[in-house]
Amino acid sequence: MSVKPIFFALDSKKLSDFDVELKMLKGHIYGVKVGLELFTSEGPSAVEELKKDGWNVFLDLKLHDIPNTVQAATVNAGNIGADFLTIHIASGKEALDAAQENKAKNIKILGVSSALTSKASTPTTSDEVLKDFLIAKESKIDGVICPPSEIVSTKKLFNLIVTPGIRLENDDIDDQKNTTTPELAIQSGADYLVMGRSLRNNIEYVIKELKL
Ligand code: C5P
Repeated sequence: MSVKPIFFALDSKKLSDFDVELKMLKGHIYGVKVGLELFTSEGPSAVEELKKDGWNVFLDLKLHDIPNTVQAATVNAGNIGADFLTIHIASGKEALDAAQENKAKNIKILGVSSALTSKASTPTTSDEVLKDFLIAKESKIDGVICPPSEIVSTKKLFNLIVTPGIRLENDDIDDQKNTTTPELAIQSGADYLVMGRSLRNNIEYVIKELKL
């Protein structure tokens, strides 16, 4: 059985809302993502519980603060077992460096641009993302969260690219505006995909038929 390079976004107030899905997906996908909604509701215990169950955990907190605070939060995220953590590149090179230099070995730092996938892809988006990613590159963090429209150009800068805004063909795009299919994202150079609603609504298909 091949493990698909997907993080399942656990976007809900309660981890127990995903009991059925997590059982079905175990062994089929690489990891899970704990974001702002679940973390502000259940806190570190959600991460600790997922780690106990053997999951790779991506803690998507998009930290945006001064270097001292970003660095301290990064150390704490490593201590609770997170394997990946997001930091806003807008926090600045100094904050990214502080996090990277003081992080626990187990955790990978991913930079986030302000150009979220809920914004449409325009030439301005590309400029905004490139400007952010050049700062991220200087800081030597592990990788970036990259919108679908920018994967190809970003591959020249980073070896670790994680892409949200993923929709299966004919899926509703909901609040996302910069989207692509799982197959195209991987072919373009993404290393991991973040999938929330599109995965939750099509689990059997993703497990049995999606070829990545
Ligand atoms: O349900 P859907 O697949 O749209 O969920 C996407 C997930 O990825 C959400 O948890 C969202 O917070 C996250 N994300 C995103 N765009 C970014 C960064 C993170 O959609 N640029």
